[in-house]
Amino acid sequence: MKIKQSIVAFALAAVIMPFAAFANTHAVLQSANNDLHDKDSLQRGAKYFINYCMGCHSLKFSRYNRVAADLGLSDEEVKENFIFTHDKKGDKTKVGELMENSLDPDAAAKWFGTLPPDLSLVGRSRGPDWIFTYLNSFYKDDSRPFGVNNTVFPSVGMPHVLAKLQGMQVLEEAHHGNKEGEEGGEAHHAAPKLVLKASGTMSSEAYRNMTRDITNFLAYVGEPAATHRKAYGIWVLLFLGIFFVFAYLLKKEYWKDVH
Ligand code: HEC
Repeated sequence: MKIKQSIVAFALAAVIMPFAAFANTHAVLQSANNDLHDKDSLQRGAKYFINYCMGCHSLKFSRYNRVAADLGLSDEEVKENFIFTHDKKGDKTKVGELMENSLDPDAAAKWFGTLPPDLSLVGRSRGPDWIFTYLNSFYKDDSRPFGVNNTVFPSVGMPHVLAKLQGMQVLEEAHHGNKEGEEGGEAHHAAPKLVLKASGTMSSEAYRNMTRDITNFLAYVGEPAATHRKAYGIWVLLFLGIFFVFAYLLKKEYWKDVH
């Protein structure tokens, strides 16, 4: 009896705990609402990434021409709009090459205290919601080397490279509920809130759309085959369904004389 109960308890825990953990870590994240099928968004995201991020972050598992094909772009379009790097001999990087940059690792480590990581897999390791929230959560903090901090990445070593566009946010401890010292009330610990204090060249909405596109692109880069793979899945299931019918008929045929 005892054993049965513990098995049931264990099974329940196994089912519930992943959800509990999920709820916990994702509570503060904003939903990216990115759409991997939206090619326009992916194209914009790629362009933004190459313009604003690739000076520091490489995508060393991606080749320009593969990305171009997936995003519905021609090699020519990629050459003209996306490739700004050169090889050691000074020739323009070719479309078949990996999306690397020429950042000097030693210098970078000195500037940022850490190397800007390759972002090929960040779409998978962090997930789109985290990336989106991260890009929307830089705030002014004069105690940090670059004058900014980030609510989802405390003591971040990355400058707010999009500050000109977004403007600058400040972190405000929201005070509401009971006044301090009031009796009988619960202490309301309202979550700190980011408020845009100095506006940038983009409206808040345009900035969110831009960061959504970048997030979408990084999610695609993390798993370029995701959209194809899901399409295959349907065919595999259909095949299994049809195969089952024939397997069943065959089984019936084989067993009909065995009685
Ligand atoms: C000037 C260099 C620089 C630029 C430009 C830059 N970053 Fe970073 N980024 C960094 C550094 C350095 C870190 C590591 C921060 C740390 O570990 O404290 C980082 C970290 C990150 C991380 C967290 C990676 C992880 O999983 O820990 C993400 C995501 C990221 N950057 C995205 C971007 C995006 C998107 C852009 C373009 C909009 C961008 N970065 C532009 C320097 C840069």
